[in-house]
Amino acid sequence: MQQIFTPISFGRLQLRNRIVMAPMTRRKAKKDGIPTPEIVEYYKRRAQGEVGLIISEGTGIDSFHAYDTLTVPRFENDDQLAGWEQVVNAIHAEGSAFAPQLWHTGRFADNPIGPSACKMPERGDGTLRPEVQEMSEHHFAQVLEAYINAAKNAEDIGCDAIEIHGAHGYLLDSFLSPVTNQRQDQYGGSLENRLRFPIEVVKAIRSAVAKDFPIIYRFSQWQLDDYNQLKFQNPQELQVWTDALKNAGVDILHVSTYDATAPGFPSVNDKTLCGWTKELSGLSCIAVGKVAVSLTFNNAYGEEQDEISSPQPAFDLVKNGEADLIAVGRSLIANPDWVKIVKRGDWKQLRSFNKDLLKDLI
Ligand SMILES: Cc1cc2nc3c(=O)[nH]c(=O)nc-3n(C[C@H](O)[C@H](O)[C@H](O)COP(=O)(O)O)c2cc1C
Repeated sequence: MQQIFTPISFGRLQLRNRIVMAPMTRRKAKKDGIPTPEIVEYYKRRAQGEVGLIISEGTGIDSFHAYDTLTVPRFENDDQLAGWEQVVNAIHAEGSAFAPQLWHTGRFADNPIGPSACKMPERGDGTLRPEVQEMSEHHFAQVLEAYINAAKNAEDIGCDAIEIHGAHGYLLDSFLSPVTNQRQDQYGGSLENRLRFPIEVVKAIRSAVAKDFPIIYRFSQWQLDDYNQLKFQNPQELQVWTDALKNAGVDILHVSTYDATAPGFPSVNDKTLCGWTKELSGLSCIAVGKVAVSLTFNNAYGEEQDEISSPQPAFDLVKNGEADLIAVGRSLIANPDWVKIVKRGDWKQLRSFNKDLLKDLI
């Protein structure tokens, strides 16, 4: 049996194998933000397919500024939590583990806030986005409280961990970028100042949940409106960030890249960004990007047809110590039984991904 299909534990988080379902927004809730029975079944199918850890789609932490569409499920009121509890129970009944991804869309929200005021580009459908409001003291307190409540609620309804969405240009990530964060106060300027608010969020959650309740933090170099952005120019800058996350109490880092096997700092060597993160932080790490597909995520919506590819290069990252867990995104949308198919050596039987598969929850 390949190591990737063997169990692993991180404190109280016990996984049947090292395959993770990457968080993927589907916008299939009703406007009340409650996960529907179809959403419960969608996640249950991936648990029946033997995924080790299922990370939910990004779920809005509040109804003020966190969501970008009302059909994104939220993680705030009792009815929404009761819906998520059904997801948790269905996944547990099949032997898999579950972590909700706690999401604040920040500048991309319907009612956007960010570190600095700015204008946003039009939406894909040509409609204008509202201007982003600079966060005031009131906003900082409100966002912090929403994160704390969401994390405590996740623990209360039996989730196995939480993931903080700190990637892709959304609220927490937008603090890290000197392009979107032009504040003059203690939250802007130097890297140490720019990472202050994300770290305050982690620390606040850490002291609100049990010591052994795992916190996963997802971060990226890139962001949605700047696919080439490099937040960390070199390993030294990355280390400042990973040290801060580690000291704040993060347990697992989820390194969001287009291609899990690509070099993190190509001018230095071939080590992946996940490999660097793991080495510099000493923490357990999840690698993600382009597993079992041929196109990178940012090119997946054009005319070019995706083809299946071998997941082995990603599995080798676990074998050679660059990653502990491997997350699969689009290929798990196309194949709820992904783990079973690949475990029996039949990856060539996987169904290829295309954007039409996003229309329904299969
Ligand atoms: C339809 C879709 C929705 C996504 N939504 C989210 C999200 O809510 N949160 C997040 O962190 N990443 C999101 N992503 C990024 C994925 O988690 C993953 O990092 C990316 O698809 C690369 O993995 P892949 O190459 O295996 O698809 C989304 C990706 C897709 C395809």
